[in-house]
Amino acid sequence: MTVLSSIAKFTRGTFVPLLNMDARFTSLSLAYLRNDPVQLASYERVQLFEDWAMENSCALSIQDVQLVATLRNNEGFVAVQCRLHDPAHRINQTDISSFLSASETYPFKGLLMMTLTDLPWHEGAKNALGDVSVPTICLGRSDLENSAINWAYFARSGEVALIGEDPPKGDVTNSIHTTFVDTLAKFQTRRHGLRVLVSKTKIGRNLSTKTVDPTVPKISTSSVERGPFNLSATKVYADLDILFSLTWAGSQSYAYSKLYYRMAHQEFSEDRTVCFKPKRRNHIETLRLALPEFPPDATVFFRIDASAHGVGTIFVNRFDVAPQQADTGPTILADYNAAKEQTRAMVIQSEGGQKAALSHYPESLSIELTAGCNLTCSHCSSHGTAEVHDFHNRLQRFTPEGFALMADEVFPYLTSICLVGRGEPTFVSHQLWECVFEKAKQYNVLVSIVTNGLLLTKRLRAEHMPWVDTIMFSIDGYLSETMAANRGNVSLVTVVEALRHYDRLRRSTELARRPKLSVSFTLKRNNIAEFASFIEAVAQFKPDLVYSRHLLIFFEKQATETLLTSPEIANHYLAQAYRAMAKHNIPGDCPPIVAEAADRVPDPDVIKAMNYAFTSQRAQSAPIWEEQQDSLVPCLSDGVSDPIGDALMQSALMTRAPLNLSQLAATIDIKPDQPQPDALPPDRCIYFHRTGVLMADQSVVTCARPYAATVGRVGEGQSFAQVWNSKDMVQCRGDFGTDNEWSQCKECWYRESRYAGQRDSRSEQQAYEMDTAESSYDLRSWDFRDELDNEVRDVSAARKPGAR
Ligand SMILES: C[S@@+](CC[C@H](N)C(=O)[O-])C[C@H]1O[C@@H](n2cnc3c(N)ncnc32)[C@H](O)[C@@H]1O
Ligand code: SF4
Ligand code: SF4
Repeated sequence: MTVLSSIAKFTRGTFVPLLNMDARFTSLSLAYLRNDPVQLASYERVQLFEDWAMENSCALSIQDVQLVATLRNNEGFVAVQCRLHDPAHRINQTDISSFLSASETYPFKGLLMMTLTDLPWHEGAKNALGDVSVPTICLGRSDLENSAINWAYFARSGEVALIGEDPPKGDVTNSIHTTFVDTLAKFQTRRHGLRVLVSKTKIGRNLSTKTVDPTVPKISTSSVERGPFNLSATKVYADLDILFSLTWAGSQSYAYSKLYYRMAHQEFSEDRTVCFKPKRRNHIETLRLALPEFPPDATVFFRIDASAHGVGTIFVNRFDVAPQQADTGPTILADYNAAKEQTRAMVIQSEGGQKAALSHYPESLSIELTAGCNLTCSHCSSHGTAEVHDFHNRLQRFTPEGFALMADEVFPYLTSICLVGRGEPTFVSHQLWECVFEKAKQYNVLVSIVTNGLLLTKRLRAEHMPWVDTIMFSIDGYLSETMAANRGNVSLVTVVEALRHYDRLRRSTELARRPKLSVSFTLKRNNIAEFASFIEAVAQFKPDLVYSRHLLIFFEKQATETLLTSPEIANHYLAQAYRAMAKHNIPGDCPPIVAEAADRVPDPDVIKAMNYAFTSQRAQSAPIWEEQQDSLVPCLSDGVSDPIGDALMQSALMTRAPLNLSQLAATIDIKPDQPQPDALPPDRCIYFHRTGVLMADQSVVTCARPYAATVGRVGEGQSFAQVWNSKDMVQCRGDFGTDNEWSQCKECWYRESRYAGQRDSRSEQQAYEMDTAESSYDLRSWDFRDELDNEVRDVSAARKPGAR
C-alpha cells in the first residue's frame, strides 16, 4: 500500500474523526518523525507546537508551525510545518513565506517541511530560502513512501509498526518465514532499549551550517562502534543483524557500507576496512563478513559506517565475532565477497603499475551470450544488412553447460558481468537465461544488460532484481520515425513501455543498492538534433547514466551518416545535450566536445534544416514520452508476497564451489602485492586489467573494440585463467604505451572517447562536466570497413603497425 492510499484510508478512518485533512496529515507526520529510524537518529522528541510552547514557556503563536522536533545532543529545536499539498503541486513563495519567518520569531535551529509533493519548487520559493538564516529541509512523498514504517498497518490501525513488524498474515509454516519471524522477534525485543549508537547525523551537522537545496532530500548517515573483542582464534568472521534505513532517493548514490577494524594500539583507518552491502533497505538482515587474520589473542575494535557517500542509517542489533565457521551459505558468501574485494584492490594495483601478467582474475566480465538478434538495426555491424544478420544468427551460442563451467571458475572473484556483444542478450533460451541468474545468485555477482528492450519484460522478474546492476536500453531517437529508421522498424512505444516496466520493477524492490537504469544513444546525422530532447524525456526516469558514442563505420552508407567529419555540428548539439544532462544531474559516458572545432560556427542553414526536420515531427512523438505519475510511485511490499526475500533466502542455502587462485598461480609467478597507486593514468586501457571479454563461442578477446584480437578460448581443457595470462594477452598489456603498442590500441575509439577519465570522475561522484579539453578524432579508430569484410580477429592483424 502506498502512503497516498494509506493517507486516504487514514483520513477516512474513525479513530481520528474530528480532525481536518491538514490536521490528519500532521498526525501522520508526527507518527513518522517519532518512529522512522532515520528521523529517530536526528530527533529525540517531537511534539505538537502547543505542547512544546507550554513546556518551554513560549508565549508565541507562530503561524504555520504544527510540530517542534528536539534535536539530539541538546542541539536545539526544529520547527516543522505539515502541509497536505497535492502531489502535483509545486511549492511557491506564498506557500512558505509565513513558515520561513518562524526562524526569525524564535531562534529555531532549522525548519522542516513535511509535504506530499516531490515536484521541484518554483524559482521564487527557492530564492526565498536563500534569505533564511537556518537550513531548511523538505521531506516529501518519496521520503514517506520509502520510510521503514508499514503504512498499510498504519492505515488499518492508526498505530505504527516498522515494515516486517506486523504479525504475519495467514498460516505461515514454511521455514523461510519462521527464520524471518525469529529474526524479527529478536530484533523487536531488543528494540526498545535499542542499543544503537548513532553518531552525529548529517542532518544534525547540516543544522550548524547553511546548506539549502529543497530538491535534494536530506538523509542521515551513521556510524556505530563495537568492541573490544578479545579473539580466541586468528581467523574470524563478524556476524551482524542490521537494519539499513535508506530512502529511494538515497539508494541512487548508495554504493557500499564499511566495517573498520583496529587492534588496541591502532587507529581506525581506510587501510583496515571490509566493504559490504546489505541487500535490502528497511529490512532486517543477517550478514556474515570475513575478517583478515589477526595475531593470536588480539583485542579488536570495530566501527560500522553506513555508507561512503553519507546516505542511510545503519541500526546494528547484534554484532558478534565468531571463529572459523562451518561451510554454510553465509560463510561461503563471506569468503566469496572477501575474494571479490581482494580482486578489486589488485586490479587497481595492476592498472596503476601497468602490469602485463596478472595474479588476479578480472573484476568483471563482458559476456556475449549470443551473436544473434531479433532486430536488424541499420547501423549495426552484426545485423545491419540481411547478409550479416543471417551470418550472426547462425553463429555458435553459449550453452548453459559451458556457461556454468566458466562461471564456477571465475564468478567467485567477479563483482559484475555485463551481457552485451554482437547480438541481443535476451534473445537466448530460457535455460541459458536462468543459468546466468542462478550463477549470479550463487556467487553474488551483479548483472548488467545492454538491450533493445523488446524481450526484457518477459525475461526479467522481481526475483532477479537483487542481482541486477544496470539495464541499459539502446534508444537511438526521440522521434518514433527516427527510432524506427535506426532500429529495424522497432516501435518506440514498445521500447518506452519496457523502460517504464523496468523502472517500476526497480522502484518496488526496496534493495539497498538501487538497480540502475541507463540509456544508450548512438550519435548520427539523423538523430543528433533530437539528443537534447531525448535527455529531457528520459530525465523522468532519473537515469544513472546516459551513454552515447559516435557511429562506428562498418558499411559504406555510414561514412556519410557519421558526425565525426562534421565536428562543428556535433559540438553544437552535444553542447545542448550536456546542458540538459547538467540540469538534471545525469552522469554521462559521452563523446567530448572536439576542441579543434570548438570555435567553429556550423553553417546556419544546415542547423536550420536539421532543427526544422525535428520540430515539424516532434508533436507526434511527445505523448509517447509523457511522464506517467504511476511509474514514479514506489510501492512498498504488501507483506504477503516477497519474491525478492524468497530469492535471497535461497541464495543463502548454497554449497561451496572451489575458491583458490591456484589456476592463476600455475600461469605466472605471483609477486607480493604492491601498494595502491595514488592515481590511475587517465589514458589507459579500460579493459585488459579489469574486464575480460568472452564471445559466444567462448573465445576470449583483448577487449570490446570491434575485431579485437582473440587471445584464446575457454573450454576443452583450457581454463579462463590460462587465457587471461596467455602469451598474447600478456603481450598486449605489456606493449601498451610502448613503441610496440598494437595497432588496435593505437586506433582505439575507447581511448579517443576518454571514457577512463569520465569513469574516474563518476566514481568520485563528480557532476558531469562538459569536456572541452584538447581533443580530436582519428577517423581510422572509427572505421571498420576492412575488418567487416574479413571478420579478422587474429593477433597479427591487431598488432601489425599500420595494419590498415
Ligand atoms: C551491438 S548492440 C548489442 C546489445 C543490444 N542488442 C542493443 O542493441 O543494445 C550494443 C550497442 O552497440 C550499438 N551499436 C551497434 N552498431 C553500432 C555502430 N555502428 N556504431 C556505434 N554503436 C553501434 C547499439 O546501438 C547498442 O547500443
Ligand atoms: S538490437 Fe542490438 S544487436 Fe540487434 S541489430 Fe540492433 S544494435 Fe544490433
Ligand atoms: S584496443 Fe587496446 S587500448 Fe583499446 S580497449 Fe582494446 S586492448 Fe584496450
